[in-house]
Amino acid sequence: MESPVLAPMAPSDIPEVIAVERAAYTSGWPTTAFERELTANTMARYLVARSPAAQGAIVAFGGLWLMVDQAHIVTVAVRPEYRRLGFGRLIVHGLVELAAEAAMDSVTLEVRVSNEAARALYRTYGFYDVGVRKRYYADNHEDAIIMTTERLDSPAYRRRLERLRAELLRRFPARIEFRHLQSPSPT
Ligand SMILES: CC(C)(COP(=O)(O)OP(=O)(O)OC[C@H]1O[C@@H](n2cnc3c(N)ncnc32)[C@H](O)[C@@H]1OP(=O)(O)O)[C@@H](O)C(=O)NCCC(=O)NCCS
Repeated sequence: MESPVLAPMAPSDIPEVIAVERAAYTSGWPTTAFERELTANTMARYLVARSPAAQGAIVAFGGLWLMVDQAHIVTVAVRPEYRRLGFGRLIVHGLVELAAEAAMDSVTLEVRVSNEAARALYRTYGFYDVGVRKRYYADNHEDAIIMTTERLDSPAYRRRLERLRAELLRRFPARIEFRHLQSPSPT
């Protein structure tokens, strides 16, 4: 497969991102949330992945907040027809590298108990369960599992990230640039 492009999300990407989100989730955020995230939330960093097989269209995106010394993944979504091809890994990988580059201690997130696909993806990235938020989701009152990584600068986690980066680069043979994914800070 030709290599996808991983890049910081730009305001001009928002219409495409919303289309991906609508396809991926049953209830999406309104457009304004993304606009605010990109222009007014200095903690927020969002990435998009474009696929050559989709004529360069955005097929996946994700975002995280850099909160003092801990990063929090707020969303990851892949178009249903592009799943199980490594795009979820690509986005999570980019977000974790971004958190490491920003000197965050660790990364946390919440995920629906029933979301086996996402939980498996996060486990690949070394996230483990640390707690439960009861009835966290407003739509169906489902519990959220809180997951976290160990310290990003620990030798074991760095080795894991190196191994996963090598796997991704084998999967997408052309070079993917994981450095300098920090979006320009909003002014
Ligand atoms: C979760 C999601 C992002 C995974 O994206 P993806 O592109 O299919 O993931 P990848 O192809 O990179 O898969 C990575 C790993 O995740 C796990 N995984 C992905 N889909 C899975 C599924 N349906 N069942 C079990 N494991 C799954 C596997 O371990 C997989 O590794 P493998 O392909 O080597 O077996 C995607 O299913 C999605 O967008 N879901 C809806 C939105 C969502 O739930 N986001 C997460 C919110 S916290």
